[in-house]
Amino acid sequence: MPTVTIDHNGQLSQTSVAAGATLAEALHAGGIELSLPCGGQHTCGKCRVWAQGRLSPMSERERQLLGDAPQGQRLACFTVVEGDCSLRTQTGGTDRILADYRADALPPAPIYPGAYGVAVDIGTTTVVGYLFERTKAAPIAVQGALNSQRTFGADVLSRIAYCNEHTVAPLQEAIRRQLDSLLQSLCQGAGIAPEALSGLCVTGNTTMLHLLAGLEPRSLALAPFTPQSVFGDWHDLALPHFPGLRAYLPQCISAYVGADITCSVLSSGIAASDKNVLLVDIGTNGEMVLHTPEGVIGTSTAAGPAFEGSGISAGMSAQSGAISSVWAEKGQVRFTTVDDAPPVGLCGSGLVDSMAAFLELGILDKRGRMADSFGGRAPLGDSGVFVTQKDVRQFQLAKGAIRGGMDVLLHHCGLSYEALDQIVLCGGFGSYLNVTSAQAIGLIPPDMAGRTVAIGNAAGAGAGNILQNTARQAQALQIASAVRAIDLSTDAYFKKRYVEAMLF
Ligand code: FES
Repeated sequence: MPTVTIDHNGQLSQTSVAAGATLAEALHAGGIELSLPCGGQHTCGKCRVWAQGRLSPMSERERQLLGDAPQGQRLACFTVVEGDCSLRTQTGGTDRILADYRADALPPAPIYPGAYGVAVDIGTTTVVGYLFERTKAAPIAVQGALNSQRTFGADVLSRIAYCNEHTVAPLQEAIRRQLDSLLQSLCQGAGIAPEALSGLCVTGNTTMLHLLAGLEPRSLALAPFTPQSVFGDWHDLALPHFPGLRAYLPQCISAYVGADITCSVLSSGIAASDKNVLLVDIGTNGEMVLHTPEGVIGTSTAAGPAFEGSGISAGMSAQSGAISSVWAEKGQVRFTTVDDAPPVGLCGSGLVDSMAAFLELGILDKRGRMADSFGGRAPLGDSGVFVTQKDVRQFQLAKGAIRGGMDVLLHHCGLSYEALDQIVLCGGFGSYLNVTSAQAIGLIPPDMAGRTVAIGNAAGAGAGNILQNTARQAQALQIASAVRAIDLSTDAYFKKRYVEAMLF
């Protein structure tokens, strides 16, 4: 079998794979999970590695997707190992992972019997775990990592498509392995034995929980969008190093509004509010809930991976060197990068800022059309990074979906934005978003910037609140049952607003 030598961020290793395996499969065999944003469907061009040796010749499609990439770069899902070869991964750092925690005001009364428990938020992009000691309201250790399922696709739809084509088993195995090592690492870091863990609460959107429980998610993407389970119960995840450890999975609201939103509503405290509050979690899926004194409704809108940096020509996650903040100054585009490293691409928060700056400078018009003088490719200052007309269109689709969803919820309650007391943003993207830019491009309605707050990883906090208090566990069940889910796929008002909201 051919030997593949791998240089992963400077760490050398070797693995053997059968001739005919792709470089992505070779990396997987070597224990390295490379992001495959389109799930290896040969459409995104993001799975770039440096490779040499006995490899398949470059196809026309691979060449097209690589564009003007430097010599030696290949796409890992295209390129096939034909003999001994070597490859180097280009990931240069660690993503920003939101691992904050809002401690519950209630004194702990845990749902587990022993001394320690762990709450986990499985996001589509990141997985964050919080280790608790039973008498404490705040975690004693926190760890996060990118979701290992990203090798099957960047968003829920591409992962569901993978399951439909194969089975749910590889995705379940990937997240089970990741959970097992996350728990081991938390225990090790805190100096406690794995047997001392007696409680686990795992939240996530409805798809993430289906994948974790090994339920085929096909019905989540097909009308009438019926989940196989809405959870709100205990599961044996059969984690290798934690035999017998059962996990509580909080209740989802519907196929498209998950337990992560149940948990976010719980930890944000909006369920007890007498105000009109819109809670929005912007990610590959825009999940949102409108709370009013009269009732609560929720929905979800497929924004796609643009806000996470995928589907954008220079897009990347918020790693070192990602342009994360952009503004117009004296007629010029200015920017900063994550870690102040040399610019190598553009992450979601930088993308929103770029649109606002381009609008201000007249590089884009309200319809999203780029001025002819740029030839369809506008530079971000002297960074060497460009935003293309196609990127702008991708972004407009994502923005239209989120804003359209928000408008629908208000419309269903007969509310105007003037009557809305607050927009609460949760999740990673909301935390790094510049609300002034978001308002300038219409992602957030006019005059709402001053009434918009970001509350961090509210889903993770909700999972922790449930783990540490039986009363919160009961309250979360009430929240999930009380939210009326709106299906946007059949909503005529959404279709109208979606198109209008694509404009800047
Ligand atoms: S082209 Fe390889 S993952 Fe998309």
